[in-house]
Amino acid sequence: MKQLLMGLALAGLMAVNAARAADEPAGLQGSHGQSQLSAQASAMLPLCASCHGLEGISTVGLYPNLAGQKEEYLVKQLQQFKTRERNDPIMSPMAEPLSPEMVNELAAYFASLK
Ligand code: HEC
Repeated sequence: MKQLLMGLALAGLMAVNAARAADEPAGLQGSHGQSQLSAQASAMLPLCASCHGLEGISTVGLYPNLAGQKEEYLVKQLQQFKTRERNDPIMSPMAEPLSPEMVNELAAYFASLK
């Protein structure tokens, strides 16, 4: 049930984002330099934020906060999830589709949050 709800929440977020992406091709606008994200990276952000929080503070005990974490560390973790050197059934599939550029941008975004 919890998983179903999560799936629905994600689907909703992604639909909202698709609608936004249509009229804001440069990406989400907002504080924290979100507008500096490429369209590709900002298209992923609602998904990441559904677990890690748009402000980088998660609402679930097992989902880590990312706000203010070191950028290099976040890049390294995402790279390791991609290669499964760090293997997590939730997070590895999330990192898999990210290009190296998106990894850098998302890491920089979450690191910039205070
Ligand atoms: C369904 C929930 C979920 C989504 C969506 C999600 N994550 Fe995660 N993330 C997790 C969990 C759970 C962990 C901790 C994994 C572990 O225990 O090793 C994690 C860990 C991480 C870490 C490592 C943090 C640390 O302190 O080591 C980074 C970086 C990260 N996520 C970034 C992202 C990015 C970027 C996205 C979007 C592309 C994303 N996550 C989407 C659940 C999620």
